This record gives sequence, structure tokens and C-alpha cells, in this order.
Amino acid sequence: MSSPTLKIGIVGLGRLGQRHAINLVQRVPNADVVAACSPVPAELDWAARELGVTTGYAGYDALLAHPGLDAVFLVTPTAMHADQIIAALRAGKHVFCEKPLSLDLADCLKVEAEAARHPHLTTMIGFVRRFDTSYHDAQQKIAQGLIGKPYLVRSQTCDQNDPSGAFMRFAPTSGGIFLDCSVHDIDLARWLLGNPTPTRVYASGTNAIHKGLQEFGDVDNGLGTVEFSDGSMATFMASRTMAHGHETLTEVFGTGGRLAVGSNPRLNRVEISDAYGVRNECTPDFYARFADAFLIEAQEFTDAALGRRTLSLTLNDATEATRLGIAMTVAMRERRVVEF
Ligand code: NAI
Repeated sequence: MSSPTLKIGIVGLGRLGQRHAINLVQRVPNADVVAACSPVPAELDWAARELGVTTGYAGYDALLAHPGLDAVFLVTPTAMHADQIIAALRAGKHVFCEKPLSLDLADCLKVEAEAARHPHLTTMIGFVRRFDTSYHDAQQKIAQGLIGKPYLVRSQTCDQNDPSGAFMRFAPTSGGIFLDCSVHDIDLARWLLGNPTPTRVYASGTNAIHKGLQEFGDVDNGLGTVEFSDGSMATFMASRTMAHGHETLTEVFGTGGRLAVGSNPRLNRVEISDAYGVRNECTPDFYARFADAFLIEAQEFTDAALGRRTLSLTLNDATEATRLGIAMTVAMRERRVVEF
């Protein structure tokens, strides 16, 4: 591509879309956000007022027809991802899309097939933790053999309890805690263990606080275990009920050592010593923990779409994360081991 900048349409300006939009407009050098798309007029007003993105579309097809558009950045509800990615590829646009790729395996495979028909287009699913400098360093150290052969990943995504239960509005469409939250840990485990092939999955869960999730076959605390054909294993915990804040923690055990990322979910380097003891404050939410990684992720997408680098993750990684997330969900709901 000869153009020095990537002309991007941001699609979805909700909780996360606004964060991505701010990064793309203010902090990604080669990105040029030329239009926004949302069915909510107040969100388009926000983009115009706060970011100077004055071209807004209520409909996705109209955005795809925007003159000179190179790429879309999809931060829309998960159920829309697959169709929106396919429509963008058919319109000749590069695509960034938030995780998970889809809640449906057949849709993941459809997206992979469509992307294969457009090899000159970049299609990236945002598994943001791969772009966190600590996870990146851990992966490099494992690849260099620092801990010998890695055989077990223990990884958790634990959110601070929201007593208002505001997250319940996502419950009917999120796919459940494993596809919404553990999908990050699943992707990390595959990456850190060298993409082993899963053979058996078991999972269970409970509703410690938010009993209303039962109505959607969901839980506020879930546990899952995956066995792989090379003898390696992964075990996951996801929670929406932490009292102290957001705690993402991953441990990798190898034959020659162990690496841990996030054992202390400290907000910063301030240590408080007072009548309660010696302590630090905790990251309140996922964005506080991964803000830098979201920026690096957007920079990688932009550079890849401009032909300046190749992507460090594949669409198939996203399909495999969905495959395992579905297996964990089925195992929990049907109280059985899922075999591949
Ligand atoms: P949200 O509900 O706050 O925002 C969704 C946005 O999509 C809203 O702006 C809404 O107006 C817009 N929208 C709805 N229908 C649309 C359509 N037909 N065309 C264009 N826009 C449409 O949801 P949130 O939390 O921002 O999540 C969005 C996605 O980001 C989800 O897939 C979620 O899984 C993912 N996510 C990823 C995280 C990560 O750590 N990487 C963290 C949080 C969310």
C-alpha cells in the first residue's frame, strides 16, 4: 500500500470502543480515523465532540461505502463479529475485531475461509494480553528454554465485583464466563505452551453472588481444565466477584522452573504501610491493567495493514480459543467431560 496512513472506520463506541477510538486518534501515528459507526446518536456525537471525528454513520453498510476507507476497527457486540468481518473483507477492507471471534465454531471457520480468499487484507482478532510487555517477555523466555519444557499453565481472569450487576446486560449475549473471560487465558495457554492439540476438557462453576446468571446458563465463578495430546495441561479460573479489584494472573510451570505474570495485581509501585499492614492498591479493572497493551495491539494492526510487518497471531488462534471456550461451557452446563 502506498498511502502513508491507514484510513480507519471505528465501529462501536461503547465501553471499550471509546478507548480504542482515543488510542487510534491520539496515539497511533499511522492511523487516521476518518469515520465512526454506531446506531446510538449520542456515541457519534461523542466522537465528533471529543475526537473531531465528524463523519458518523448509523449503519455499517454506509460506513463500508465511505470513500477511501482502508480498514474497520470492530468493537461491537460479540454476536455481530463474524458477519461484520466477512462484510468488511468482501468490501476490500482490512479488519481489526475485538475478541472473541465468535461464539459459534462454524462462524469462526467461515471467517477463516473468507480471510483466506483475501490474503492481501489483514484480519486480526484482539487478544490484547499477547501485547502486554510482561506476557511478551514471559513467552520469549519460555521460547528460549529458561524454564525447560513448559507442561502446565494455571491462568485466571478475575474481575472486581460490581454490586450494581451492570454486567448482567451482557449476560444474554456474552456466551458465558468462559467465552467472555477465560478465552483470554485459553489463548495465552495455547501460546505459552506452543499450540498443543486439546484432547479432553472439564469445567464447573458456581454463582456466589449473582444468582441471576443462572437464567442464562452462566456462573459468576468458573473453573476449567484442559488436557493436551503432548501431555501438557492448562487450568483456568474466571470470576466476577473479587472484592479487591481486577486480578489477571498466569503461572507457567516447566521442567526447569516456573514463571508468573501478575502475582501481585498492584496498581502502581506505591507501598502503603499503616494500621492495616503493608500493602498496595490493586488494578480496578481490565483496562487499568492492560491500557498499554491495547495501544501496542492497535499499532501492530495498523503497521500490518500498511504492509510494514506481519501479524504475531493468526485467525486460527482465535478459532481454537473459541473451540476450547465452547468445550468448557458445554462441560460445565452438561456436567461431563468433553473429548476431542
Ligand atoms: P458495549 O455494549 O459497551 O459496546 C458495544 C458498541 O457496539 C456500542 O457502541 C453499540 O452502540 C455498538 N453497536 C451495537 N450494534 C451495532 C451495529 N449494528 N453497528 C455498529 N455498532 C453497533 O460493549 P463493549 O464492552 O465495548 O464490548 C465490545 C466488544 O469488545 C465485545 O466483543 C467484547 O467481548 C469485547 N471486549 C474485549 C475486552 C478485552 O479485554 N479485549 C474487554 C471488554 C470487551
